[in-house]
Amino acid sequence: MEQELESIKQNVINCTKCDLCKTRTNSVPGKGNSQAEVMFVGEAPGRNEDKSGEPFVGIAGQKLSIALDEAGVSRESVYITNIVKCRPPQNRVPNTDERNTCQEYLKQEISIIKPKIICVLGNTAFSSILGGSEITKFRGKIVRRDNQLYFLTIHPAATIYNQGLIDVLKNDIVKLFENIRELKNGKEIKIDIEYDS
Ligand code: URA
Ligand code: SF4
Repeated sequence: MEQELESIKQNVINCTKCDLCKTRTNSVPGKGNSQAEVMFVGEAPGRNEDKSGEPFVGIAGQKLSIALDEAGVSRESVYITNIVKCRPPQNRVPNTDERNTCQEYLKQEISIIKPKIICVLGNTAFSSILGGSEITKFRGKIVRRDNQLYFLTIHPAATIYNQGLIDVLKNDIVKLFENIRELKNGKEIKIDIEYDS
């Protein structure tokens, strides 16, 4: 498992499958526990991530870390990745071609880690993974598709300029891990949305 993740990581580091490879400093492979129960999926690396090669290390990453802390969860226990692994110029939203090209890596990460719940962070991840939109309307909900559970919440960067969203993110993350606890105790959890594929 560790080796399989390591091999994805190397493939991401060397990847030239889309044009984002031309402008990146470093690719940003997913990072975290290979046995994580929760996988967080953001949008794309930003400036700090592009410099360091690690996901969610800038201000948005700090916001995510704080929310995890408040829920009593360590960053080391989870797995954190993005829809695209290279920074789009000027932090623009990755386009359809870039997302589609990069999604093979995300699929591989999911099939190796087999997270109990995939936490979808913000609209780009929501639309790329589930074809959804309007995350603010659907956040806090549990989705099931093809026997995989997803939890929807806002992107941590949304809390930077809207302080009111800090508690929203924190409460959502707390709820996410309450669901994990229930699942581990063999209890049924409430599915808010069933997707057909
Ligand atoms: N925003 C993201 O979506 N991902 C990162 O890794 C950092 C900021
Ligand atoms: Fe490869 Fe994804 Fe980077 Fe594009 S964004 S070059 S597909 S790793």
